[in-house]
Amino acid sequence: MTSSNLAIGVDVGGSSIKCALVDLDTGTFVSERFSTPTPAQDSTETLLTALATVVANLPGDHAVGLAFPSVIRNGTVRTAANLNKAWIGQPLAKLATEHLHRPVVLINDADAAGLAELHYGAARGVDGTVLLLTLGTGIGSALFIDGKLVPNTEFGHLEVKGQEAEHRASGRVKVEKNMTWDAWAAELNLVVNTMHALMWPDLIVLCGGITDESEKFMDKLHCEAELVIGALRSEAGIVGAALATTLV
Ligand code: BGC
Repeated sequence: MTSSNLAIGVDVGGSSIKCALVDLDTGTFVSERFSTPTPAQDSTETLLTALATVVANLPGDHAVGLAFPSVIRNGTVRTAANLNKAWIGQPLAKLATEHLHRPVVLINDADAAGLAELHYGAARGVDGTVLLLTLGTGIGSALFIDGKLVPNTEFGHLEVKGQEAEHRASGRVKVEKNMTWDAWAAELNLVVNTMHALMWPDLIVLCGGITDESEKFMDKLHCEAELVIGALRSEAGIVGAALATTLV
């Protein structure tokens, strides 16, 4: 293994910023995973400082892939559904490069998780249309057609029977509304089948911390597409972010 096969992956989620050094040959961590709470509603400077502090735990001058919960266009943050709105319009790739003193590639968080599952995980070798959904603070989406990412799909904001998908079935909604598994699975079923009816994917991959308890809801979901849990679990965002450094 040469050092050129290593990159740092950073995943900024709604609740925590996580990072690790990743071996890109295998999609596995070669360092401890470090994390810190995300100051999601604080100033952009506060989040950048938290980012720099947590990434400073990792040695070396490896390139950094940064997964962020927003639409990303040309290194700039374009939306902020679950963040301080001051993020909109910020040139985060440039700002993070300055704060981390390393080259930074910026990517949407769900797109990063999708890349990881496609290259190393549950969607590896799958052609056709693959839809990945992350069920965390919001609902993120990644769409692949014959292995090619269609970036910045924002299907979590799809209106499903008068309510945004991510307000029905994200991991956060289950906790905040204290929903039973049955009630939450019914919402997720509605969301997944509404998306299926619009895209007809061959495979749907579900990711996010809540999928660690997949045995509590998977048998309640019924969809014509094959429906599976991501293989990389909560590591997908970090691994995919690191992989994104090779795709520019
Ligand atoms: C954001 C997406 C993000 C998803 C998951 C949504 O609210 O709009 O960009 O991928 O949350 O974090």
